[in-house]
Amino acid sequence: MTGVHFEIESFSHGTLECRDLEVTKRFYREFLGLHCVRMSKRVCWVWLGGEWLIACIGAGAFKQPQEKQNRFALRLESSQAVEAAYAAAVAAAEEWQLAAVEAVEGPEEFRSFLLNDMDGNWWEIYSRAGTRYDDIFDHEQAPADEDRPAMIQFIKACSIDDLKTGTITRVEIEGKILAVYNIDGNYYATDAMCTHDEVDLAAEGELQGDIVECPAHFGQFHVPTGRPMARPCLIPLKTYNVCIEGYDLLIDIG
Ligand code: FES
Repeated sequence: MTGVHFEIESFSHGTLECRDLEVTKRFYREFLGLHCVRMSKRVCWVWLGGEWLIACIGAGAFKQPQEKQNRFALRLESSQAVEAAYAAAVAAAEEWQLAAVEAVEGPEEFRSFLLNDMDGNWWEIYSRAGTRYDDIFDHEQAPADEDRPAMIQFIKACSIDDLKTGTITRVEIEGKILAVYNIDGNYYATDAMCTHDEVDLAAEGELQGDIVECPAHFGQFHVPTGRPMARPCLIPLKTYNVCIEGYDLLIDIG
C-alpha cells in the first residue's frame, strides 16, 4: 500500500534523557533560558514557544552520553550573542559540570559552538544570517496544483561513499553542474563555477577547512554560506540544501 496514511496535526515533541532531572531542569532554565515544567517524577517538559517541546526523561545512572551528531540546536540572534554565550559557557563550565565547550567556529554569517552538558547531551549554539532552516519549506505553503502539491526538489546526487573527507566532488543533476564538499563529515553543495570567471571549482578548487580557493586568481568562498572571502571574488556562490537518505546524498535544486 503506498501513500501517506497519517493525518498528522502537528510536530509535537521529541525526547531527551538526563541523569538528575532537578539538576538538568535548573541548567536548562537558569543557564540556557528554556522554560521547564516538571510533569511527573521522571519527566520534565522543556519548551521555548511554538507547538513543539522536548520531553526530558530522568534516566539516572543509566543515562548514556550522546554522540555529537545527535544534538539540539539553539539559534541566537547574532554572532556577538554566540561569542557572549561561549564566554558564559566557559566561565560556568565547572559550576554546571559541563563535559565540553568547543571553540567558536565559522564566519560572521554562521557562527556556532558545541556544548556537551552534564548529562552528555550535545547542544549547538549558533547564529545564522538571513533565512531560518524551516524557510526552505515556505514554498510548500504556496498555492499549488491540487493534484500535485509543490515539492522540495531533493534529487540524488551521489553516494556519500564517494565523498572523502576534505574533498570536492563534481556532480551533474538536471543540467546543473554542482560542487559537493565533505568538510569533516558535513556535506555542502554549491554551484561549481567560480563567480569571478568560468573556472570549475569542483575540478580545480582547493578546499582549506570550510574555504574553497579558486586557482585562477586565488579568490575564495566560504562553502557553507557561499560568501566571498577573498578578492577578486565579490559575488556569492549559490549554495544548495543537502540531506542524506541511507547512503545517498540528495540536493535540493528546487
Ligand atoms: S576565476 Fe576564480 S578567482 Fe578568478
